[in-house]
Amino acid sequence: MKKMYFLLMVALSSLFLLTPIHAAEPVKVGMILPYSGVYAGLGKEITRAFELGLEVFGDEVNGRKIVLVQEDTEGKPNSGLSKTKKLIFSDKVDVLVGPVSSGVLAAMRDTVHNSKTPFVIANAGHDGISGAKCSPWIVRTSFSNRQVVRPMGKWMYDNGYRKVYLMAPDYAAGHQMMDHFKAGFKEAGGTIIGEEYPPLQGTKDFGPYLAKVKEAKPDALFVFFAGGPAIQFVKSFGAFGLGNTIPLAGAGWLTSPLYIKAQGEGANNIIGSANYIPSIDNAANKAYQDAFKAKHKREGSEFAVQGYDSARVIVEALKAVNGDTSDKKAFMDAIRAVTFDGPRGKMRFDSKNGNIIQNIYVYKNSKTNGVIAPSVFDVIKDVQDPSDSCTM
Ligand code: PHB
Repeated sequence: MKKMYFLLMVALSSLFLLTPIHAAEPVKVGMILPYSGVYAGLGKEITRAFELGLEVFGDEVNGRKIVLVQEDTEGKPNSGLSKTKKLIFSDKVDVLVGPVSSGVLAAMRDTVHNSKTPFVIANAGHDGISGAKCSPWIVRTSFSNRQVVRPMGKWMYDNGYRKVYLMAPDYAAGHQMMDHFKAGFKEAGGTIIGEEYPPLQGTKDFGPYLAKVKEAKPDALFVFFAGGPAIQFVKSFGAFGLGNTIPLAGAGWLTSPLYIKAQGEGANNIIGSANYIPSIDNAANKAYQDAFKAKHKREGSEFAVQGYDSARVIVEALKAVNGDTSDKKAFMDAIRAVTFDGPRGKMRFDSKNGNIIQNIYVYKNSKTNGVIAPSVFDVIKDVQDPSDSCTM
């Protein structure tokens, strides 16, 4: 009897050993994004496009299904950090994707770094992450704030604007974007004649801020707003009648394809710089836009591209390690090494700091057949985050 029991145990344990332990275990992707609050639309757009990316590039690698665990940051640093801890320590995700806000990113960074969790940033542009706060565990498929905004100061001076007023939400991204604009604009010879920083959450009325701008009579107003605040701001700008008197320029996102329709006439004639424009002419962008339109009946935005590319980065890296994420460093090295022809051209990470290298587009919105859309009139090629303070 004892012998039989022993043989049975041997048979069972060898069966267990023969079964690859990871075969049936899913790869868990922690989506750490705003699903409520002022950036909820952006978080949902990134998630939609990430799911589309898995449909297109494959949601299973070597028998392991890729599954999402979604957590709502609410766009707030505190919630972002507690949800990050839950995803890492309780759900034990293999990789994190998100967040939208630079404030949330700054709050998450040390926990991600210290726990050695592979992290693909799909939006937030906090400059520190490509600089002094860079990490071997972090790459970014989106942008750094200075990468997108830096060219605009010089560009606006070169195009005749001399006195500019600034406005942005009062948090890390708002201040970083304005600081980069200021640096380039002043260096070129321009003057900043006023700055306003309304609260990110809960600014219901831009009227008092716009009244000050009107009185100052700048050559142009340069702003950073995204998501809910961008819709509201552009509508107020239009309603205030400033559209005919003060040129409005902004950092990308101000009139994203995600919400330009909701902004109405105020979106016309706006000048901006962006890391993606739906009309980019290459095969991968056409395939992406066709797939997005087939599923969602509208154009995919810059936020969606970042989600779609993040999915592809993860799928390609998983393929490179045969679906085995147990060696976290090998998986992260594979993520950093991914390169492909994507909707924004050749996708690759800067080996210096993990930030994507990409073109930046300067555009102006105009109306054709009743539809307001951006036309590109300058492309700055292969822009890298300029920081040299990242040491890894
Ligand atoms: C940011 O907080 O870094 C941020 C948020 C929304 C954007 C761009 C940057 O559209």
